[in-house]
Amino acid sequence: METETQTTTEQMTNSDLSEQIKEVTKESHVRAENTELMLSFQRGQVTMPQHKLLLCSLYEVYKVLEEEMDRNSHHPCVAPIYFPAELARLGTLEKDLEYFNGQDWREKVVVPAATKRYCHRLRQIGKENPEFLVAHAYTRYLGDLSGGQVLGRIAQKSMGLKGSEGLSFFAFPGVSSPNRFKQLYRSRMNSVELTEEERNGVLEEAVRAFELNIQVFDDLQKMLLSVPENKLQTLSTHTTPAKMLQI
Ligand code: HEM
Repeated sequence: METETQTTTEQMTNSDLSEQIKEVTKESHVRAENTELMLSFQRGQVTMPQHKLLLCSLYEVYKVLEEEMDRNSHHPCVAPIYFPAELARLGTLEKDLEYFNGQDWREKVVVPAATKRYCHRLRQIGKENPEFLVAHAYTRYLGDLSGGQVLGRIAQKSMGLKGSEGLSFFAFPGVSSPNRFKQLYRSRMNSVELTEEERNGVLEEAVRAFELNIQVFDDLQKMLLSVPENKLQTLSTHTTPAKMLQI
């Protein structure tokens, strides 16, 4: 079996899924980078409330994404890109949320409507089109292994955190070289057999995955503007920004 340390000799071509997916999501990536939330990160100005809210949404998203990946792990389109030991984020998010919100963190998970829409879409494709999970796994995991590495260091500085406490989400102890792992991941994506229709569906889904992320970031910013932090802590998971404006 191919491992992370073995360099892939496969030549990438324009017809490779990994190249096509990068190309079709290029513009969306720029838009994602330029959301208020991501700009706060890049400027080194991310605040604790921003980060805590982001962790809550990521927790809900990864819970569904990883459940659906696990459930479909033997599906021919999912199996090649199924790397739970190296990539799984749910446990790291649980750890970070406990660090920031205490032992009763589960009662304090607050997510906006956009996060629910994202989770709903993940559930739906897990049931109806598991081949689209490739698009969602790519968007999140390759993002976490790319810009996410820098964001972790920035978050640590911005929030004055000591050591690696509260930053498990950004660390991938099972991946010794993110760049080599990304190469392996791309070659695995390229080995997935898809009909033309399925391939177009995956590419469309990747654009949608970026869009869903952008909507989550924008909704989180709205929540922060409309609700004081102490109120955020007491809200249930079923609160939407619209409802929050009424409190
Ligand atoms: C790749 C930066 C946000 C998804 C990358 C790369 C950088 C980067 C430097 C590596 C490019 C390369 O190797 O060619 C950033 C910064 C961000 C950000 C600074 C925000 C502050 C996001 C977000 C997502 C995302 C929000 C998705 C939700 C990806 C993906 C890749 C990637 C999927 C892999 C592209 C590929 O090689 O196919 N990002 N990113 N990024 N990023 Fe981001």
